[in-house]
Amino acid sequence: MHEADAVIVMQDGHVTHFGPADVLLRELPRGVAIRDWGRDALICAGFIDCHVHYAQTPMIAAYGARLLDWLDTYTFPTELKFADRAFAAAAARAFLKECLRNGITTSCVYCTVHPHSVDILFEEAEKLGLRLAAGKVLLDRNAPEALCDTPQSGYDQSKALIAKWHGRGRLLYAITPRFAGSSSPEQLAAAGALWAEHRDCLMQTHIAETPEEVDWVKQLFPERQHYLDVYDHHGLCAERAVFGHGIWLQEPELQRLHATGAAIAHCPTSNFFLGSGALDLSRVVKAERPVRLGLGTDIGAGTSFSILDTLGEAYKAAQLNRFSLSAFHAFYLATRGSARALYLDDRIGSIAPGMEADLAVLDMRSTPLIDFRMNYARGLGEQLFIQMTLGDDRAVRATYVAGRLAYERIDDRSGLNLSASS
Ligand code: GUN
Ligand code: ZN
Repeated sequence: MHEADAVIVMQDGHVTHFGPADVLLRELPRGVAIRDWGRDALICAGFIDCHVHYAQTPMIAAYGARLLDWLDTYTFPTELKFADRAFAAAAARAFLKECLRNGITTSCVYCTVHPHSVDILFEEAEKLGLRLAAGKVLLDRNAPEALCDTPQSGYDQSKALIAKWHGRGRLLYAITPRFAGSSSPEQLAAAGALWAEHRDCLMQTHIAETPEEVDWVKQLFPERQHYLDVYDHHGLCAERAVFGHGIWLQEPELQRLHATGAAIAHCPTSNFFLGSGALDLSRVVKAERPVRLGLGTDIGAGTSFSILDTLGEAYKAAQLNRFSLSAFHAFYLATRGSARALYLDDRIGSIAPGMEADLAVLDMRSTPLIDFRMNYARGLGEQLFIQMTLGDDRAVRATYVAGRLAYERIDDRSGLNLSASS
């Protein structure tokens, strides 16, 4: 729903009123502070990133490899550095700054194998008041030894992190087996047992990202029907499961995702960057058996924190499959669709009374080219499509987190304003 001239009233972290300005302005109690963002602003629900690795912020844009080489050559060496708390803290702060600069108010995050990598991210997110899900990566094979846990230690550490963080303020825990290639059957079983004990946690992992990986997983688990069955067999396919990528899933797997209420996180910039493929969105959201679908940046295989950029690439991925992703559908994916994927749509992803007050304020004329092009846009659909095709971080003027102005673009380009202003 779109309101051409709107007022959004926020109190105690929630939206209390949303509607036409001419009506609401008359009803507002005296003394309420008003911020007018002007005619060239569009306010939408804060963007939601359903799949991202904060620990890969230090190695985004690593050259020349496909998934499995890329993991060995760049990803694992970087994640090893997270043994150092100071390194992890610097990455967490840089990551969350980028999220706010891009209007992202909720992320579902992979940390590293080190439990303190989760503590550090949650501590920083808590300071900012962000709603955020995250988890310690579980992996016990096919990675450097120093980056591996065991089925038991991974279970114990995750359980302790759940007790400490899950449901604390706006923070949620995501049980995070990295993928079938790096977890033994015993570890997947332990992750499934842990999730059964903590059903309201999320569960995140990767699936069917590249054909080579699908073949490899077939060799690792020859007794399983298909890739999804590896997870399903171990109790890892249900509501609140978020499967990254899913480009190479087959029809029976999509049917099973639909039946169980599990979700796919579509990560188009990553898929293009690693040459993994182009997800056929139309197959995923097929009317007879729609699968919940969210959007992910998948930093650091993904190449942009900008959700607008990511939507532009989602459009191109769909185009390669002869499906035209509309701007309305795209913005839905980045907000309410992603909230549904995470089973958080009763709290975030839309602007309505009772929802948490997470907002992105977009500048619809953020560059000279967009400014010029907007002169010829007919209607909201075209205006939004221009943003997702040409826009990036410059189009985010401000970000509100739980009703607090957490980021405001500084127009002299001298730097970021991330002070705790409100
Ligand atoms: N599969 C297993 N681990 C990863 C990762 O870190 N990034 C991506 N894109 N795919 C993965
Ligand atoms: Zn990923």
